[in-house]
Amino acid sequence: MKVTVVGAGAVGASCAEYIAIKDFAAEVVLVDIKEGFAEGKAMDLMQCASLNGFDTKITGATNNYAATAGSDVAVITSGIPRKPGMTREELIGINAGIVKTVSSSILEHSPNAIIIVVSNPMDTMTYLVHKSTNIPKNRIIGMGGALDSARFKYRLSEALGCPASDVDGMVIGGHSDTGMVPLIEKATRNSVNVSEFLDAARMDEIVQATKVGGATLTGLLGTSAWYAPGAAVSEIVKAIALDSQKMIPCSALLDGEYNLSGLCIGVPCIIGKNGIERIVEVSLSDAEKAHMQSSAEGVSKTNALLN
Ligand code: 2OP
Repeated sequence: MKVTVVGAGAVGASCAEYIAIKDFAAEVVLVDIKEGFAEGKAMDLMQCASLNGFDTKITGATNNYAATAGSDVAVITSGIPRKPGMTREELIGINAGIVKTVSSSILEHSPNAIIIVVSNPMDTMTYLVHKSTNIPKNRIIGMGGALDSARFKYRLSEALGCPASDVDGMVIGGHSDTGMVPLIEKATRNSVNVSEFLDAARMDEIVQATKVGGATLTGLLGTSAWYAPGAAVSEIVKAIALDSQKMIPCSALLDGEYNLSGLCIGVPCIIGKNGIERIVEVSLSDAEKAHMQSSAEGVSKTNALLN
């Protein structure tokens, strides 16, 4: 498998690093506009090959999409990250133009690529790729829910005092500080509902902490996070590479699912060699349905800014 990662900044380089460490791809090409930056990141990462035991070949290219030709998957991380106090939605003015140009450049050299969108505001950027490329909708995946679910599991494991491997939980809805829908009613500790371990107040704290997980880190780091976003992307790419049929919450273009249409928002998706193999409509409580509806209203409002 050949993977392109556009944007060799912290998130893009972490995507490349985790894809390489998981060693399922033949090649990762890092692309950036800053002269020599992608080449430098690629070289630094390749010098980890003997230490981290991977055979994936990582190369870098400065604004040269010919080097990305024939990619099976292309990850778009380019654009500006948010600063403390900013919302993801405030990035739309600059990032929309970048994402549109980048997706066109990717498809010019890799017409059959599956595109994974990371740039924020992610749900709207994913929708923009649909609108500007018209490639089959199964080949456009927004990465948000995989990251938000990882943060949800972190908060659950923190509250339960157990390893993250002992908990399971999923976040759907918009990848925004107010629009996320952590499915706390469905969260489990080794198949046991977490409500048997945590009271309502603590469960609500976990939900709230999950929703602002990105903003919390931006406040601490002065910029957006990169390790967990990179790791989350690598899980989606791995599911494509291995045709895993794994259910991962991703931002997908809806056409009636969850009573929503004409927007991209986080829903459970079966991920395989074709990208989004299918969208899974899980049963939602009335409260979860209401949260999903209001989340969709928020995403649609941001989409309107594209015009
Ligand atoms: C985050 O939540 C960058 O949106 C990404 O960290």
